[in-house]
Amino acid sequence: MTARTAAKPGTPPNEARAKQTAIAKAKAVAPNRSTRIGSTPATTFRGNPDIFGRLVEDHDRHRALFAMVQDTDPQSPERDRLFRELVREVKSHAAAEEQALWSTVLRNPETTEDARHAVHEHKQIDEMVADLAARDLASREWMKRFGAFKEKYLHHIREEEQEQFVAAENHLSASDVRYMRGVFNRRKKEEKAAVKIEEKIRLKD
Ligand SMILES: [Fe+2]
Ligand SMILES: [Fe+2]
Repeated sequence: MTARTAAKPGTPPNEARAKQTAIAKAKAVAPNRSTRIGSTPATTFRGNPDIFGRLVEDHDRHRALFAMVQDTDPQSPERDRLFRELVREVKSHAAAEEQALWSTVLRNPETTEDARHAVHEHKQIDEMVADLAARDLASREWMKRFGAFKEKYLHHIREEEQEQFVAAENHLSASDVRYMRGVFNRRKKEEKAAVKIEEKIRLKD
């Protein structure tokens, strides 16, 4: 199957290109899996040259990885491989996002609540990931739980793109957001190389 790469009519080429690049990075892990992510929530940040464009690029890559995990057969080694890649991506993205963006946004009283909201959800996402990692990936139950995790994650990134990034951008300078992109890139790479996948069943749903 091929990636859905056609841009919607009227989509600026820069945005479409950014999305294609992000999806291609996910696809490189398992070229035969479907990366169809459907339509994505509207955002003005896709393809932009500062930290927000960079973060949306990761979000699109994660959307593709979710679709790819759901496209695997229960016993296939690809399910495990793609799930582990998704976990490494999601955890290193969250840590680098906190270090490069949310730490600064948190310090401004006008945007403290936005940063707090995003970081709180990172903690919930971490717990869901550890729970999934502790369970049998080949079971039907696992895929059901994975579906709930996907829903939670897509909600998180949609809110970031449409609410918290918008609020943050209004309080940051153009040079801040450019600089933050570099910090994010550096930290993401280091965090990804050091990710430890915790396994812990969540007792309460
Ligand atoms: Fe986040
Ligand atoms: Fe994010």
